[in-house]
Amino acid sequence: MTLVSHSLDVIKRYQSAGGAYPASPTFSAYRGYSWLRDGAFIAEGVSRHGDRSGAEAFHAWCARVISDRAGQVDSLVARSERGERVSPAEMLPTRFTLDGVDGDDDWWDFQLDGYGTWLWALREHSQRYGAAVAGTEKGVRTAARYLTAFWDLPCYDWWEEHVEQRHVATLGSIHAGLRAAVALGVLSPAESAAASEAVAGIEALVSADGVAESGYLMKWLGNSAVDGSLLACVEPFGLYPVGHPVGEATVREVERQLAVEGGVYRYLADTFYGGGRWVLLAGFLGWNHARAGRREEARRYLDWMAAQADPSGDLPEQVSDRLLVPGREQEWVERWGPVAKPLLWSHGMYLILADELGVTS
Ligand code: BGC
Repeated sequence: MTLVSHSLDVIKRYQSAGGAYPASPTFSAYRGYSWLRDGAFIAEGVSRHGDRSGAEAFHAWCARVISDRAGQVDSLVARSERGERVSPAEMLPTRFTLDGVDGDDDWWDFQLDGYGTWLWALREHSQRYGAAVAGTEKGVRTAARYLTAFWDLPCYDWWEEHVEQRHVATLGSIHAGLRAAVALGVLSPAESAAASEAVAGIEALVSADGVAESGYLMKWLGNSAVDGSLLACVEPFGLYPVGHPVGEATVREVERQLAVEGGVYRYLADTFYGGGRWVLLAGFLGWNHARAGRREEARRYLDWMAAQADPSGDLPEQVSDRLLVPGREQEWVERWGPVAKPLLWSHGMYLILADELGVTS
């Protein structure tokens, strides 16, 4: 079996009857939970390879879990419009149980990026198949209202860290999500105008405080370190698209600092499982190279991803052979067990990059 068909198979096998994608079905800390961020990229991967119904089941699941919380969103928005402070603990969750309930285990539960990434993926899918996904309208409007009201709040980043900061990759996800929501054509005129105003606000803020002196995007506003998640601000989110000097400088700087022989670290100070190279980030870097016309480089990242599969074809979250801080690996193994595998997001990214390069089997 090729890695494309194995990836499609793993994703389909573990998708819940209700449409949710578990992040990793066997990993102790993720088991039983679905993240909007992971799921959106997984859905994009399968959508590109013809699994229309799997992707649509996921989108319908997201729309349901988000619209179930429309009352919570309306009350948060009303309070913030009255000038009341809303706390991170009151916001929508980062991850949901497979049947769409807030989990009761403690988690780093205020992240905005997943809501934007979901809207982006839904729009990609709808455009690809030339039709709206039935039953998603209320979810889209709820997510758009939520992001429009709260896009400028600090929150946890893609890696569930630094809740006190405003992360550029998060702003890039929201920017793409709000543009997608407007383009989907289901917002009211007032919602659409407010969403477009937020999009302009993100652009102004990032260009003022999110670009380092030498021209690349920063990990968070005011911190000129780089982070692998910034790659998404170029391709696919297009906050600074391929060809824009800031986009080009970002891809170059992430690759220079974080890529080693095809694998990509999250950021230089990473200590999670000792800080290994992430399979899904190799996918983002390859995707950027492919879109910029550097197909050979893109192919190198695809090949590296494939080489990380175990004999059954399963891909891990990260690879532990060249750790940034080897002394910090064991504490995580003791806490949560071996590195997550299969990680469905790694398989989703493999599918996306394979499709970019015309690898269909
Ligand atoms: C990562 C998140 C991811 C989650 C589920 C966490 O360790 O930091 O980015 O969404 O795992 O895969």
